[in-house]
Amino acid sequence: MDFKRLFRGPVFYVLVGAIAVWIGFSLITGSGFREVTTQHGLDLLKGTNVEKVLIVDGEQRVDLTLKKADGDNGTQVQFYYVAPRGAEIVQAVTDAKDVQFDDQVPQTNWFMSLLGLLLPFIIIGLIFWFLLSSMQGGGSRVMQFGKSRAKLVSKESPKVTFEDVAGADEAIEELQEIKEFLKEPAKFQAVGARIPKGVLLYGPPGTGKTLLARAVAGEAGVPFYSISGSDFVEMFVGVGASRVRDLFNQAKENAPAIIFIDEIDAVGRHRGAGIGGGNDEREQTLNQLLVEMDGFDVKTNVILIAATNRPDVLDPALLRPGRFDRQITVEAPDLKGREQILHVHAKGKPMTDDVDLAVLARKTPGFTGADLANVLNEAALLTARSNAQLIDNRALDEAVDRVMAGPQRRTRMMNDKEKLITAYHEGGHALAAAAMRHTDPVTKVTILPRGRALGYTMVLPVEDKYSVTRNELLDQLTYAMGGRVAEEIVFHDPTTGASNDIEKATSIARRMVTEYGMSAEVGSVKLGHGSGEPFLGRDMGQQRDYSESIAETVDSEIRRLIETAHDEAWQVLNENRDILDKLASELLEKETLDHLQLEALFADVRKLPERPQWLSSENRPSSNVPPVAMPSKAPIDRDATEGRVASDRSRKVGESAARVGATGDEAAGAHGADAPNIDEHVRNSEEHSGPAPSSGITT
Ligand SMILES: Nc1ncnc2c1ncn2[C@@H]1O[C@H](COP(=O)(O)OP(=O)(O)OP(=O)(O)O)[C@@H](O)[C@H]1O
Ligand SMILES: [Mg+2]
Repeated sequence: MDFKRLFRGPVFYVLVGAIAVWIGFSLITGSGFREVTTQHGLDLLKGTNVEKVLIVDGEQRVDLTLKKADGDNGTQVQFYYVAPRGAEIVQAVTDAKDVQFDDQVPQTNWFMSLLGLLLPFIIIGLIFWFLLSSMQGGGSRVMQFGKSRAKLVSKESPKVTFEDVAGADEAIEELQEIKEFLKEPAKFQAVGARIPKGVLLYGPPGTGKTLLARAVAGEAGVPFYSISGSDFVEMFVGVGASRVRDLFNQAKENAPAIIFIDEIDAVGRHRGAGIGGGNDEREQTLNQLLVEMDGFDVKTNVILIAATNRPDVLDPALLRPGRFDRQITVEAPDLKGREQILHVHAKGKPMTDDVDLAVLARKTPGFTGADLANVLNEAALLTARSNAQLIDNRALDEAVDRVMAGPQRRTRMMNDKEKLITAYHEGGHALAAAAMRHTDPVTKVTILPRGRALGYTMVLPVEDKYSVTRNELLDQLTYAMGGRVAEEIVFHDPTTGASNDIEKATSIARRMVTEYGMSAEVGSVKLGHGSGEPFLGRDMGQQRDYSESIAETVDSEIRRLIETAHDEAWQVLNENRDILDKLASELLEKETLDHLQLEALFADVRKLPERPQWLSSENRPSSNVPPVAMPSKAPIDRDATEGRVASDRSRKVGESAARVGATGDEAAGAHGADAPNIDEHVRNSEEHSGPAPSSGITT
């Protein structure tokens, strides 16, 4: 029985009240008089035993105090009478000998009657108040409608410092400066510097923007107000603007201070956008924000920090110097950054001696801080589940796979036919990738279902990549086709399993033609505006800004790229059919092949010949000077080759493809990862024919 909850509930108080009232009543009434019959009472009066009599009018009661005890009744008895007997009783008392008597006429208590009258009103009022306050989500909020909801981060709250943020050194440097501005404004004003009003942190989800802001709060030593952009949005008109005003007033009173608005795109969106013009309430809120950020008062020492994933939808007025003077990108970490983040999150997680976080960092290209934190947490959970004390490499590897492709599906039993097809499909991807000249090495192939995929092939970049060449993209197209081609060549009856590959390949080809200027026919022209309209869906907003004939050319160019890739894959698989068969039978037997096993299998793959030199136009004469040689690639994961890890997994830098040409425009990088990094073999495609959920595989 949960006694604590019982004490807190209303039932308890009602019970206590009832008991108190009952005790009170019995104290007033039960004053030790025993009741006797009226007849016996009258008899007593006639005798000589009575000492004192009290007649209570209104209650029609007579209290008798006796000289000697009357049997069991003691010396105090009382009896009641009916009104018509009144005269007779009075006579009897008057006639009684040797008796002191007294009449009592009880007065009604005015206070009690007033209480009786008001009580119902008080109760109704209380119920109303309770309902209203619970509707507002807390007793004291009823009257605080237009007040800002900002929380003052108190000094006692768990302290995050810059130590806890790894791999974001540039961002930290910039924010360190903010700390100094607030500490010694005079130093900066002496040389005529204007202290920045705002700092905008932007970057993909999970890269540590909120974490950075919290670290500033922990380190700044000034009042820190934290609020989320959506807190300004309410269903009542004008509340947002009033909240902005209140927030800045609070901060100014406590200046120097920092205000942090998380997810500022909720209020800072471009004005006048959306279907049928702007949203008035949001624009009022934004206007108020603009006014507060550079009002007339230039001296106040309040700095606004904001975070967003989408700086591209923010209103330009918000981004101009004088408002958000500083704009800091927070990117997914590089190799060293990943290792540092892993070290931060490995604190308090006991690991076996052979775990090397540097190796783990190498296996997780493209992972954000949040992903890495998740990997370590998953590994810890898996370890705890198996009742082990130390986290080992196996748990870490499994955790990486889980974060990338979802948990293993042991219960999904594939029949032999499905297994065979999957083995050839994945083998086709892997072999095609291995036979390409500009592809990263294949590091893992598996036909164990995981997440949505029935099997997958992983291709690991040797180092972090920030741009992709045309040949690399063409290779990606070719090995994306590898799975389908294997099915065609081997079974002469392809399955639905290639739908995801086809989708990814088409998307890459489209970008090559319309964004990266990699088609000679179309030329270096950007076609269509990506995500131009923030209020329409991302793809719905795609406007076509070119003619029908260009559209036709684009379509035929995309088709040509895909067809060429298809042909290349066909050629490679046909030429290496013996290896494909061996690979498939190995896969059927072992289910998962790591990069060492694959290396052995692919030792004498007949590679695709180099593609001819590409010229954006025939008319531009090619230079006689040969192309500058590329520095040779670093060797593959050396530690893994030494056998320190059983298998090697990775997700390929999906973003790198998207990042080409996305100069500083994070939005393009954030949602464009289409590189066929892991080739899923989603065969029951009816079920999954919708847009692929962000399973973590394609970033
Ligand atoms: N650089 C980092 N160092 C250490 N931990 C990190 C780092 N980046 C992210 N993390 C981990 O990931 C978690 C999520 O990060 P955070 O909330 O800061 O992401 P965000 O950038 O604000 O994402 P969103 O844009 O989705 O709000 C953090 O709580 C932290 O555990
Ligand atoms: Mg955040």
